[in-house]
Amino acid sequence: MKIHSSNYWKEYFGANLKNLRINWDLAPLLDRSEKANILKSLQAWQLGETSEGEHSLHASRKYANAINDPDYPDAVKLFIKEEQKHGNNLGRYLDLINEDRIKKDWGDTMFRKIRYYNTNMELWTVAVITVESAAQIFYQALKDATNCKLPKQICTDILIDEAAHITFQRERLYIIFSQKNAFSKFICYHAYSCFFICTSLVVWFAHKKLFKAGKLNFSRYFHKMKSKLTKVAGRETLYQIQEDTIHPITEPIPVKHF
Ligand SMILES: [Fe+2]
Ligand SMILES: [Fe+2]
Repeated sequence: MKIHSSNYWKEYFGANLKNLRINWDLAPLLDRSEKANILKSLQAWQLGETSEGEHSLHASRKYANAINDPDYPDAVKLFIKEEQKHGNNLGRYLDLINEDRIKKDWGDTMFRKIRYYNTNMELWTVAVITVESAAQIFYQALKDATNCKLPKQICTDILIDEAAHITFQRERLYIIFSQKNAFSKFICYHAYSCFFICTSLVVWFAHKKLFKAGKLNFSRYFHKMKSKLTKVAGRETLYQIQEDTIHPITEPIPVKHF
């Protein structure tokens, strides 16, 4: 696997935050049946994207000290900033359609607890990579569940960001996994898969109305999640040989404005 340096990710996230891909002048139209299908899930994911990330940052600092990678917490900080941008954009859309930004959701509370009590970088990375994989399917389904251009653009922006998030976290999981002995690798490989599959089922039951509106039935959703699991934490991914670390980006990331 090719591993990018933390400095690369710092520069990547820094440049990507300047990309403005949403035209907020578009009308926030949403018909009644679309709203009935997507609103609850939209509110729950908006809340989920608004974490302050203090515990994640604490975990990343502790981990970075241990592996002597001072740039890593800065990369994580910018990564969290991108998640907060998603929360802000979804919140701004809820405001435009005169719906509430909710303060509590059981799924969000569950994942916040996992993050709160956990200062272990491996557990944090596994939890994040699992939720991000589900997020990719969720935002594509949300996009397909409406004809309104504004939420489609918001979802496209998030999907572009999430693709890089998955690479960022997959590289970290691979680095952590590579340092284990054969027995720990065996245990962790199965533990990652088990957590990923269980979380996939929880996400389906929490948001099946939205997934179905986005033309995804359970078997298609589960098939997609399983192929994402193969990509992020499958045997071929975790046990492959590491290629040279790639250092800072040499070409600037294009900045788009409306
Ligand atoms: Fe996000
Ligand atoms: Fe993300």
